[in-house]
Amino acid sequence: MTEIALVNGKRLILGVSGSIAAYKAVDLASKLTQAGAQVDVVMTEAAQRFVSPLSFQAVSGRPVYSDMWRAEERGGLPSHIAHIGLAEGANLLLIAPATANTLAKLAGGFADDLLSVTALAASCPLVIAPAMDGGMIEHPATRANLETLRQRGAHIIEPETGRLASGLMGSGRLPETATLIGHVRRVLGLGGALSGHKLVVTAGGTREALDPARAISNRSTGKQGYAIAQAAIDAGADVVLITAAADRPPLVGATQLKVESAESMSAAVLTQVADAFALIMAAAVADYRPRDIAAQKIKKSNSALNLPLERTPDILLAVKAEREKTGYPMVVVGFAAESENLMANARGKLRSKGVDLLVANDISAGDAGFAVDTNRVVVLDKDGGAHKINLTSKAAIGATIIERVASLLACVPSPG
Ligand code: C5P
Repeated sequence: MTEIALVNGKRLILGVSGSIAAYKAVDLASKLTQAGAQVDVVMTEAAQRFVSPLSFQAVSGRPVYSDMWRAEERGGLPSHIAHIGLAEGANLLLIAPATANTLAKLAGGFADDLLSVTALAASCPLVIAPAMDGGMIEHPATRANLETLRQRGAHIIEPETGRLASGLMGSGRLPETATLIGHVRRVLGLGGALSGHKLVVTAGGTREALDPARAISNRSTGKQGYAIAQAAIDAGADVVLITAAADRPPLVGATQLKVESAESMSAAVLTQVADAFALIMAAAVADYRPRDIAAQKIKKSNSALNLPLERTPDILLAVKAEREKTGYPMVVVGFAAESENLMANARGKLRSKGVDLLVANDISAGDAGFAVDTNRVVVLDKDGGAHKINLTSKAAIGATIIERVASLLACVPSPG
């Protein structure tokens, strides 16, 4: 895990209660610390039966709190009013795992241990990840407590279904660290520069069917598109991710629409942009598709196979026509993946596709473009500006593109 700009420098309180899933919270504390957060861990009495405070102390590099009555000078809490000071100035309180007992205490407003007192005193957003065994999550008491907390503004991370510690199959598993961090990012991003604005992002390479078994595709994995969508979530946008990427875990905080072909991506994009602030077309859309899709698997023969191909719909051109009529989407960003004459081709596309920004991507080098975690691009704008971004992570490039999009908020005319 590397630094995450949004998380870097934030003060997070991680409350851990007594579930077997407490061991997963050690990894969570570690990854949040690596992302740049200051993580103060508060453990309930029961949590300490599952995991030692020392584990959390080692990964967070900070003292771990559990006793309400120990003041700072005795190695305890950092406040003159010891037991309520911990939440002061915190950016977020995350309780993971939250047991049925902890949920009941939070819902009832109990204040009999440091975690419940901290939750009552905290004015920052509260994120709760329930985890429990034996069908307790389905009990009407637990459901009612969760509903109470939700109505009070807490962000509830639904537990996952699978094998529970008891061997039962059911709902109650604490989600993986990456998912939990996704929720933390979504909540920290609320109120960001793009909050209240819908952004549509496309990602991955489309697949054009040839017969029931085969398809023509390209080497795009969707990494850059997903990184842009994540940066938009970090900025508080309502993100719709239209993805043709196979096998990527869902992006927490985005409404995800799975598509396969250029045709289905086109339909999804045109529907979604009708009320969107911006469209970012990072997907590698096939330019050609088989003219005919064979009803049965094509049999091999000794002679060469000739495949007549036809053009796919150009999505950006269709969006351009729509935008001329309706004014939506207000901002459009296109990509140009080129293996030669990068700048000349990119300038041409900026004009012909009617986009506000064009991200030119040289795919001839091994460390940029498809499949890798790094990229180097030039962001061109309509006024002739060219902003070169040297080799860096796709996450950093995503953040820069989203900053540019956010900066256009002030310039766009209101439609109508
Ligand atoms: O024309 P070319 O495929 O090089 O243009 C790349 C840009 O156009 C990308 O933003 C891509 O998502 C978009 N595109 C499209 N419809 C297509 C092909 C590409 O919108 N059929």
